[in-house]
Amino acid sequence: MTARAAMAGHAATAPAATGQLLAVDGLRVSATAGPGGPVPILEGISLEVGRGECIGIVGESGSGKSLAMRAVAGLLPSGTGVTGGSVRIDGREVLGLSPREHHALRGRRVTLLMQDPFTMLHPQLTCGRQIADGLRDLDGGRNLRRAKAARRAEVERRLAEVGLGPDVADRYPHELSGGMRQRVAAAAALAGDPELLIADEPTTALDAASQSAVLDLLRGLQRSRHMGLVLITHDLRVAFSACDRVYVLYAGQVLEHGSSHELESGPLHPYTAGLLASEPSVHERFAELPAIPGSVPAPGSRGPGCPFADRCAHAAPVCRSEPVELLPQVGAGTAEGTSRSSACVRMPGIGGALLAPSARTVAEPAAVPGREPGAEPVPDAALVAVSVDRTFRSSAGDHTALLDVSLTVPRNTVVALVGESGSGK
Ligand SMILES: Nc1ncnc2c1ncn2[C@@H]1O[C@H](COP(=O)(O)OP(=O)(O)OP(=O)(O)O)[C@@H](O)[C@H]1O
Ligand code: SF4
Ligand SMILES: [Mg+2]
Repeated sequence: MTARAAMAGHAATAPAATGQLLAVDGLRVSATAGPGGPVPILEGISLEVGRGECIGIVGESGSGKSLAMRAVAGLLPSGTGVTGGSVRIDGREVLGLSPREHHALRGRRVTLLMQDPFTMLHPQLTCGRQIADGLRDLDGGRNLRRAKAARRAEVERRLAEVGLGPDVADRYPHELSGGMRQRVAAAAALAGDPELLIADEPTTALDAASQSAVLDLLRGLQRSRHMGLVLITHDLRVAFSACDRVYVLYAGQVLEHGSSHELESGPLHPYTAGLLASEPSVHERFAELPAIPGSVPAPGSRGPGCPFADRCAHAAPVCRSEPVELLPQVGAGTAEGTSRSSACVRMPGIGGALLAPSARTVAEPAAVPGREPGAEPVPDAALVAVSVDRTFRSSAGDHTALLDVSLTVPRNTVVALVGESGSGK
């Protein structure tokens, strides 16, 4: 332990008010298949989930979000292995369980919901069958017909729980929209009534309207079932809207942790601040969209100090001298009675600079000429489309894909084209 750690005590996570369900402590995972020996991927991750609590894990692609939760579920990909730490579910150590014991744990205690429902759903089985397969034994007695009827009724109840009608039970996954498929996948994942649901980017493949509907659904299910929910997302704002607490992961380490509200209103790590700035809210306007320069260092290429140092505008020599640790933060930006932690060695000193007004240069939204009804088209527009119609003819009849669509894209401007899946973009 470094002197800083000794002074600050252990990096505390907020004790779950309703009892601890998942406790990950110093989890280390390495790539084991390479010729040069094991390469560390996860370098000592600690996090907690309470019963009835929703936590978010955010970070860029390659930061280790999925691998951490796959280790929890006993589903690490081949070529990787746990090299240290502990994972306790309901107080029971699960690292080192046999594949058979892990299998028994999955579905009943912990279950995974993946980004692409097709990886969870069998294309040749009806949705009802896939939900029924995960159900615990129902009281149908020895009477086969009664057992079958009880199963069907339960499947329909589970479909209703995720907002789908009973007819979906007899349909195949490819006959449903992306949002409906993710609802069926959720019903199948929850069929064994797990205590902990891990949802790995469950809405990334969906359009904006389906995204928020599926997120609302997951959060509603988590509350009504008093389940623990881990939401993995690369989108900090999604995590803020859905989760009680958020862990910010980077290069296999947790760099910041705190309540959603605290992180959103004042990040205590330059990486979190960078993520926030690169996902401006709809109320913010920037002259240029901010981005964090560079990319996440690959496993095996990380230096001895802060893994974010090569991309950090606040990096100083002290940042590169020894490994960083997630330590509790008190004072500026932390509310009394809450627990926040940051792995930035320059906190709290640079805290004020993270969200300084100069870092969030506001520009007025560019006026888009020609968008008002009846406005003259812009003379030097890069693109002008006026009253475009498009109809597709088939044996099933005519399908109008576009009807009277007009738009103008002036030179040197960015124009957004937004709409649900299938709207004609
Ligand atoms: N089977 C494997 N063998 C070796 N390295 C792996 C394996 N699977 C993942 N990794 C490495 O582990 C690191 C973390 O991967 P992980 O999939 O957990 O990232 P992630 O944060 O979930 O990213 P994304 O947002 O893209 O899903 C990456 O550098 C990845 O290349
Ligand atoms: S420790 Fe240094 S390099 Fe790392 S985030 Fe903090 S200021 Fe930046
Ligand atoms: Mg992932």
